[in-house]
Amino acid sequence: MSETLENLLQETRQFPPPEALAANANVTAAAYDEAAADRLGFWEQQAKRLSWAKPWDEVLDWSNSPFAKWFVGGELNVAYNCLDRHLAEGRGDKVAIHWEGEPGDTRTITYADLHKSVCQASNALTNLGVQAGDRVAIYMPMIPEAAVAMLACARIGATHSVVFGGFSVDALSGRIQDASAKVVITADGGYRRGNPSALKPTVDEAVAQCPTIEHVLVVRRTGQEVSWTDKDVWWHEVVDAADPHHEAQPFDSEHPLFILYTSGTTAKPKGILHTTGGYLTQVSYTHHAVFDLKPDTDVYWCTADIGWVTGHSYIVYGPLSNGATQIMYEGTPDTPHKGRFWELVEKYKVTIIYTAPTLIRTMMKWGDDIPAKFDLSSLRLLGSVGEPINPEAWIWYRQNIGRGECPVVDTWWQTETGGIMISPLPGVTAAKPGSAMSPLPGISADVVDDTATSVPNGGGGYLVLREPWPSMLRTIWGDDERFIDTYWSRFEGMYFAGDGAKRDADGHIWLLGRVDDVMLVSGHNISTTEVESALVSHPSVAEAAVVGATDPTTGQAIVAFVILRGTVEGGDGLVKDLRNHVAKTLGPIAKPRQIMLVPELPKTRSGKIMRRLLRDVAENRSLGDVTTLQDSAVMDLISSGMQGSK
Ligand code: WT7
Repeated sequence: MSETLENLLQETRQFPPPEALAANANVTAAAYDEAAADRLGFWEQQAKRLSWAKPWDEVLDWSNSPFAKWFVGGELNVAYNCLDRHLAEGRGDKVAIHWEGEPGDTRTITYADLHKSVCQASNALTNLGVQAGDRVAIYMPMIPEAAVAMLACARIGATHSVVFGGFSVDALSGRIQDASAKVVITADGGYRRGNPSALKPTVDEAVAQCPTIEHVLVVRRTGQEVSWTDKDVWWHEVVDAADPHHEAQPFDSEHPLFILYTSGTTAKPKGILHTTGGYLTQVSYTHHAVFDLKPDTDVYWCTADIGWVTGHSYIVYGPLSNGATQIMYEGTPDTPHKGRFWELVEKYKVTIIYTAPTLIRTMMKWGDDIPAKFDLSSLRLLGSVGEPINPEAWIWYRQNIGRGECPVVDTWWQTETGGIMISPLPGVTAAKPGSAMSPLPGISADVVDDTATSVPNGGGGYLVLREPWPSMLRTIWGDDERFIDTYWSRFEGMYFAGDGAKRDADGHIWLLGRVDDVMLVSGHNISTTEVESALVSHPSVAEAAVVGATDPTTGQAIVAFVILRGTVEGGDGLVKDLRNHVAKTLGPIAKPRQIMLVPELPKTRSGKIMRRLLRDVAENRSLGDVTTLQDSAVMDLISSGMQGSK
């Protein structure tokens, strides 16, 4: 991968921080120097953001690497840090969550309200026999009780395993079984695209295959008819009736806080284990640093679902530990209309929004006129996560959502890293569209070649992390061997992230997607991300997905699937244009063999393009497993609606 295309390093636009933001920023350039001078001392300083019942004896124990222990000997309670602490400091009446249901029902929840609910849920779970160390599965819609359930588990030391509410019976039962969970917390259903969507029947079927489950705690959200078993209890009967007083006990810094499964394309999902003190330290610090959160004036909104790590770290633990006021929204961005997100920004005067490239590209496709109808003047900072963001999508985001003024922070991290690792600092970094820029203070990310040597500026290779970090995964639940094989075996003594990356002439980092998605065309390594970005930089293109298909002459050939913007008409002329545009932008070697104009792209429920399926189409194979597709009708649309080719 060292041989990336020279002229790919061509994005030269750069956007320095607004002066007022820089002058008042939570974190300045000095943080990089402090961390470089004394990395462990730096993290020790950040751990002091939290309230510890017992101080640590040692910052990091790496003697049994890659099994890390952070803040060894320290004790704290995560829920205490997210709730009680704010009450003790007189912030009980501050709004923690402005919740908005998809049908438009709302709830305003203060820190005191949230504390009370979490105490009641803690007592209710204890009454159901849940003890510290037990596992609890959470399968919920985006309602406040989802956050309450997570915090109640944390409060009593039970390890939660949140399973995304869109997952199937098999996905849920597999995860329950892998963790031997004792209780499931769920709801009758949630609202999705204007209708109640049931959850309980999936849980019933899953639990029938899971003998370890003793109780199912059910929130009534939609009022749908549900069948009832002797394991089931209603949330409103046992939680609302429970004692609102609960004394939080401290737990060891390395006590297991949660397991979250990463899907993986074919293999068994990996139960990523996160623990207590290091995790909370890093998510609290990064939320403060990257979003420049001012708890007294900001209104923060992370649009992720609580079923993903983004929801764990940047809806629940990061923002609440920092005393933020935030928005939580139940539904989809197009219900009841395509301006719903911007309507919410206007209504709640949101100042910081954190969302995903897939969402931004969808908004581009829907058209500039939609956000233009709303007053977005409250916004001051925009974040992106989940995939590489194409430079054009970055610029669109800044122009159309951020008035051409708000800094955009492109944050690279993973379920495994627990918290943000590579990102601009909004008051420091002059950001380049499409680059995650630099490792945060205290993080040692690097780009290395096949022989584990750092690549020079202008080079490309594999993203690695050279030193342990506080919110790193501790293992794969029940499978230490697989933890070592997957992350620590590719390069001696380094964490292998599985992403390709390049370092530009200034040393800034550009993420190029999963290394499995790099194409080898006539001996050249070309990243799918770069060809996609070239396509999206054409004014007619809203979104693109690129795969390498086997080719008798070139080894692999580039095949692109393209969605056009709003009202653009397709045709052979345009396809030719697009191929030439890529050749002109990236060089003739990157010219796609074939471009297919399609109405939709197959995505996982977390918004990642399923290139495996597109490769099947490109190589004329019958489709593989489509069970994790968000909408299985998409593949029919693509196969039947394809126009254009060579
Ligand atoms: C993978 C991790 C981190 C929370 C959501 C995803 C890709 C994530 C970026 C970014 C380029 C990114 C990587 C990474 N990714 N953020 N800003 N730029 N790529 O968590 O499901 O564990 O996925 O998402 O490929 O390895 P995840």
